[in-house]
Amino acid sequence: MFPAETYIRRREELAQKVGSGIILFLGNDLSPINYDANTYPFRQDSSFLYYSGIREPANFLVMDLDEGETTLYGYEQSMDDIVWEGERAPLKVQAEMAGIPSVQDIEFGAGFLLSESMNDRTIHVLPAYQEKHLHFLSAFFSCDIKDLGAVYSHRLIEAVVAQRSKKEPQEIEEIKKAIDISDKMHREAIAFSKDGRKEQEIVAQMQRICGEYGVGMAYGSIFTQRGEILHNNLHNGVLADGSLVLNDSGAESPFHYASDITRTFPVNGSFSDKQKDIYSIVLEAQNAVIDSIRPGIAYIDLHLKASEIIASGLAEIGIIKGDPKEAVKEGAHALFFPHGLGHMLGLDVHDMEGLGEDFVGYAEGQERSEQFGLNHLRLARELEEGFVLTVEPGIYFIPKLIDGWKSTGAWNDFINFELLEEYRDFGGIRLEDNVLVTADGAENLSESIPKLPEEIEALIGTA
Ligand code: GLY
Ligand code: MN
Ligand code: MN
Repeated sequence: MFPAETYIRRREELAQKVGSGIILFLGNDLSPINYDANTYPFRQDSSFLYYSGIREPANFLVMDLDEGETTLYGYEQSMDDIVWEGERAPLKVQAEMAGIPSVQDIEFGAGFLLSESMNDRTIHVLPAYQEKHLHFLSAFFSCDIKDLGAVYSHRLIEAVVAQRSKKEPQEIEEIKKAIDISDKMHREAIAFSKDGRKEQEIVAQMQRICGEYGVGMAYGSIFTQRGEILHNNLHNGVLADGSLVLNDSGAESPFHYASDITRTFPVNGSFSDKQKDIYSIVLEAQNAVIDSIRPGIAYIDLHLKASEIIASGLAEIGIIKGDPKEAVKEGAHALFFPHGLGHMLGLDVHDMEGLGEDFVGYAEGQERSEQFGLNHLRLARELEEGFVLTVEPGIYFIPKLIDGWKSTGAWNDFINFELLEEYRDFGGIRLEDNVLVTADGAENLSESIPKLPEEIEALIGTA
């Protein structure tokens, strides 16, 4: 974890922003259902980590803003716990490392929180997702689990999002550590890929690299020749001459910061002309966006910029007809680029989106578009110095979607469906890098990972 001063400062800033009431952070438990089952991988809640750094399970962090007191509620291990889990640092030591002055037993904490003295206090709590937390909050707020949405504190969510969005230098260093591991994973994946190898064998190589660094993947790898399936988590194919592999994989750092990187490459070691043409359009869109990133620019405008480059490139090939700007205005490009340009990155891969995507990606009063494609933008708001985000344009040929659009007859002015038939089996290409917004521009933190066609071609199948 970071030094105690980091967590003290973060909590002080949070207290200032929220003002009054009680803030309750629910730390994750070993299992979402039972206290003593370890049948699920344990991952501490990201906001709990952000304000305490404590990775041990089953703790509550309570900040009583009216009394100016912060308490860590947890449990000391029983002999049984020690027998099964090994000995952990006593609660008091965990608290000291996070600069928290007082500790209490969690049963006492639950009793205290559920007591009548809480009735007239404002309790600020973030959206919960572990089942036992949902039950606890349902008892606490005397409401059905399905109605909990109404009790989550917007004031707390907004304060947390404002803080966690702007990365401190030590957080950026963590993200860089994650990216360094991802760099090795992606090089290994490209080098190890060749005709006849199973997709899962390559995924296993990437998992091995994470294992060697003692970290996990930040999300389930997308490693597939069916790259047109945006989040394809199956790795059940065998690499075949002529196809493209889309590898969207990223490691976590030792302190649980994410990286999120995508590269796409041809199995047989060289891009066909057709593949290179589409690849070049995606690369041009991505470079143009990274060159334009700076504080004050709205990410939706960069999404539209990438969309126009994609539409122009496809128009040159003849797949899009008419004026590319007009095509983007009408939403025709979304047949090939149906997702958003990127999202925030931090302790979560889609950073903070568990608190509500609109709180993270949209400014107050900024409406989400209803147009297909644009409606999936996770991040649309103006960028600020210190944000770390992904830039991940792509071009996909999704047969069912193409057939659906064709059958309406509504897109014939913009789409050359006859030529598109030649791309039915193409798959998809996405390029994704992780970018820091600086005072006057941007730094591509994952620049070192090979991306130029000739760099990639030189590496394929060399392992
Ligand atoms: N890896 C998931 C994403 O790129 O959003
Ligand atoms: Mn991403
Ligand atoms: Mn990704």
